[in-house]
Amino acid sequence: MTEQKATNVHWHEGDITREHRANILGHKGATLWFTGLSGSGKSTVAVELEGMLSEMGVLSYRLDGDNVRLGINKNLGFSAEDRTENIRRIGEIAKLFVDTGVVALSSFISPYAADRDQVRALHEEAGMEFIEIFVDCSLETAEARDPKGLYKKARAGEIKNFTGIDDPYEAPPKAEIHLHSDQQSLEEEVNIILAVLRDRGIIKA
Ligand code: ADX
Repeated sequence: MTEQKATNVHWHEGDITREHRANILGHKGATLWFTGLSGSGKSTVAVELEGMLSEMGVLSYRLDGDNVRLGINKNLGFSAEDRTENIRRIGEIAKLFVDTGVVALSSFISPYAADRDQVRALHEEAGMEFIEIFVDCSLETAEARDPKGLYKKARAGEIKNFTGIDDPYEAPPKAEIHLHSDQQSLEEEVNIILAVLRDRGIIKA
């Protein structure tokens, strides 16, 4: 857990509550946490889901590994320590979105179970929905897809600490949703997620 560094700082409560914001939007927020190997299809599913939710009048926002690393997390690399800090920051950002009533679609490899559990705990403490979605795909398939040509570079030793090659990926044992992107269609995957969102009352049935 990251230590609180600043002292003498206090939470300043406003007048508008999370419930109030949810009423403005007509739905409440939630974090959908996609985890899986690079090339497993996390971002692809998130983009498709974002489109479906938009059509249904549900405001969502994608937080995506590569995008966030080009901005707020540009000072982080891929050491275990930096990956942990990457996930910690995204977890806090996702919470801000949930607090505004938005459905945060967070797609990061997030290879360490402890980091993901920490984000889950932060949400649970704050009474926020956290749904972990394991985008399961064999390394073989992810490597065959190799959309960015990074597995090829990792195999050639041009990229070090590449997840699945010379860096670990800890699969989630208790994800709320377990997709198999090497066996299911994009449509099937999105429908499975939408069904869980309906069941939990996050979107209307
Ligand atoms: S995480 O491990 O900290 O969750 P994140 O999802 O933000 O990773 O970023 C992963 C993306 O960064 C990959 O999809 C890939 O495009 C790129 N990348 C570059 N180097 C690496 C690496 N060593 N390991 C994994 N992904 C990498």
